[in-house]
Amino acid sequence: MSVAITVRAYKDGDTAGLVALWQACQLVRPWNDPAKDIAFCIGSPNAALLVGQVEGENQPTASVMVGHDGHRGWIYYLAVAPIHQGSGLGRQMVEKAEDWLKARGVPKVQLMIRTGNEQAERFYDAIGYEHQAVTVMARWLNKDTGG
Ligand SMILES: CC(C)(COP(=O)(O)OP(=O)(O)OC[C@H]1O[C@@H](n2cnc3c(N)ncnc32)[C@H](O)[C@@H]1OP(=O)(O)O)[C@@H](O)C(=O)NCCC(=O)NCCS
Repeated sequence: MSVAITVRAYKDGDTAGLVALWQACQLVRPWNDPAKDIAFCIGSPNAALLVGQVEGENQPTASVMVGHDGHRGWIYYLAVAPIHQGSGLGRQMVEKAEDWLKARGVPKVQLMIRTGNEQAERFYDAIGYEHQAVTVMARWLNKDTGG
């Protein structure tokens, strides 16, 4: 069944609802403070936090964090409330993120999926994303400012 959703930019007061959504979608990890991630994103000129809301619901139903680093576009925190999963909202949120990047001339979008999140892998497969032959490596520069 399709669900009508409005997608808008983050606004004041969204944080608690987004954190609850991300917890329900098991996207929050002990080493990431989601509220700090939100604050860092909305303060960045090259990033946006898009929020999907179903009419009549007070809390965010879906989210996607999108941004670019001057070369590639990146997607994080794609989430759809469990009760609304399977209704096309994930696809819509990714399309909105892609539109945001296209409007800024970014030629390619990519994302990381935690090992074991086969649901996300199957979803991205279904909407046309391709596996890339890369290894992601990382080092913390400042653990206090979030992840
Ligand atoms: C991943 C997620 C955002 C997908 O959102 P969704 O609203 O359920 O997905 P959609 O309904 O838009 O599905 C789009 C397509 O993907 C397919 N799809 C979605 N989940 C799938 C799954 N687990 N297995 C196979 N196909 C799947 C759908 O069948 C649909 O294909 P179709 O258009 O050909 O029918 C959602 O499941 C979610 O929030 N998961 C938890 C958080 C998460 O893991 N986020 C990603 C972090 S990398």
